[in-house]
Amino acid sequence: MSPSAEHAIVRSELRWTVVVIAAVSLIMLAVIFAAVAMHINPPSNVERIDPQTLHLSAEFTESDLGTRVEANGQVTARIVATQFAFVPRCIVLPANRPVTLRFATPDVIHGILVTGTNVNTMVVPGYVSQVHTVFRTTGDLLMPCHEYCGLGHSEMMATVRVVPREAFRPGPDGRVSCADK
Ligand code: CUA
Repeated sequence: MSPSAEHAIVRSELRWTVVVIAAVSLIMLAVIFAAVAMHINPPSNVERIDPQTLHLSAEFTESDLGTRVEANGQVTARIVATQFAFVPRCIVLPANRPVTLRFATPDVIHGILVTGTNVNTMVVPGYVSQVHTVFRTTGDLLMPCHEYCGLGHSEMMATVRVVPREAFRPGPDGRVSCADK
């Protein structure tokens, strides 16, 4: 091969190296921009829970499920996703106030989304799935299971009842349920 042909190949390779570096840099910048400016991050909450003793655990016993206002004012809803229902089937949350949703499952992988919002997570046996959000609109929002979990999957759904801040009145125990509304 003549030296000039070899030079042409080297130049072509260097040009493509520049193209690849530019493409990778662009992707990295997009990831950093999404994380810093738009707060889009992979889930960071890794919390384990034994699916077999979920119902005996500190927070997912049946009597502790649903919405509760903690002593520090934090609003937390705890929901168990199970074949083929959510417990409870309806949760009440206030609009325009930070809320935390916590999910766990004793059986198989489920998934949830709240219609019309960006709330969307998998619910995996062995882990607690946690979502922080602020609901901007009031009304009954449908929360279906979005991960095929068996024959009753299509029947598996719950309601997120978002009420105006002033209509969100916890009882003396800090709890609010759909039966109160
Ligand atoms: Cu639970 Cu599909």
